Amino acid sequence: MGSIGTETAFEAVARARALEATGRSVIHLEIGEPDFDTPDNVRDAAKRALDAGLTHYPPFAGLPDLRSAIASDAAARRRMSVAPEDVFVTVGGKGVMVYAILALVDPGDEVIVPDPGYPIYESLTRFLDATPVALPIRMANDFQVDVDELEALITPRTKLVVINSPANPTGGVLTRADIERIAALAERHDLAVLSDEIYSRILYDGAEHVSIASLPGMARRTIVLDGFSKTYAMTGWRLGYAIVPEWLRQAYGTLIINTVSGATSFAQAGAIEAITGPQAEVEAMVEEFGARRDLVVDGLNAIPGIECRRPQGAFYVFPSIAGTGLDGHTFADRLLQEAGVCVLAGTSFGAVGLDHIRISYANSRENLAEAIRRIEAFVRGG
Ligand SMILES: Cc1ncc(COP(=O)(O)O)c(C=O)c1O
Repeated sequence: MGSIGTETAFEAVARARALEATGRSVIHLEIGEPDFDTPDNVRDAAKRALDAGLTHYPPFAGLPDLRSAIASDAAARRRMSVAPEDVFVTVGGKGVMVYAILALVDPGDEVIVPDPGYPIYESLTRFLDATPVALPIRMANDFQVDVDELEALITPRTKLVVINSPANPTGGVLTRADIERIAALAERHDLAVLSDEIYSRILYDGAEHVSIASLPGMARRTIVLDGFSKTYAMTGWRLGYAIVPEWLRQAYGTLIINTVSGATSFAQAGAIEAITGPQAEVEAMVEEFGARRDLVVDGLNAIPGIECRRPQGAFYVFPSIAGTGLDGHTFADRLLQEAGVCVLAGTSFGAVGLDHIRISYANSRENLAEAIRRIEAFVRGG
């Protein structure tokens, strides 16, 4: 266990809750989950399934109707042709990344992971005695991948490249041109790609989601990770899915059987309704997130010492707080203790985030406005 990492958001929540238990008011901007409830139609579908007795083991790869619905959704939204047999329903989107790394990575291999990036890619890679290689994602580059830098990191030991667009923690959205260049690299160096697209429906300003798997030849080397947690406010349902190339079907099936046997049956019935039913609530949530993004970005940029880009996706901002003279870790610690606002240090996502904090704006506008007031008073008070 010496080499495994963690996701510090869960620990930060615990610290903030402990502070609240002493009577302090804390605004939670640390956790990456929609504050909305799961839409009623989805909850009703799961309740109906429960009442109808969908309480037994599901087929290990997922309910056939859900796998078909996901395949149709991928055809419509990602413009790629997917057979239902390529789809595996997992416990959370996280299940997809666990299996990708378990299936593909051997000790001594190298995995290129975004820095800053979701910490579990790196953690699991280390756990398997493989080497995570950090691909810097810098604010100065508008949180885009520098494709030349990526190419320079590829060695004969590179097995897998992880990309995540829209990204946690930066909100950055990769351009089609860069995704095409990354695909060309994967082809040239014969690499597999884990494409974490869990925020693919949470986009602003008309930004386009391009799945690398939809580019010519790429479906056979890409694992697409998506799920229900973020898009449909279903974090507690623990449902995600993988779209895998044919040569990985066996591995995904075997790993699911070895670990969880399958994802909760009646929850999957809710997911069928989520993906095939009316999408108006998803659109309303994204519109609201967009308004909150503007509130937070404008508010932060009005504070001396803070610089914040306006990201085109997900529900995070990753401002630089270098101008305050504090590093992200000290800033986050003191902000919680002194001002009652819980954010994450940028280094929770990799070393490149040293002078940054991550804010999740999945909170009410009222709480966000109050948080901005508190952050401003904290920074001005020095
Ligand atoms: C980039 C990214 N991938 C995957 C996940 C995992 O999603 P799930 O909760 O469905 O396991 C998260 C959750 O925060 C995430 O931010």
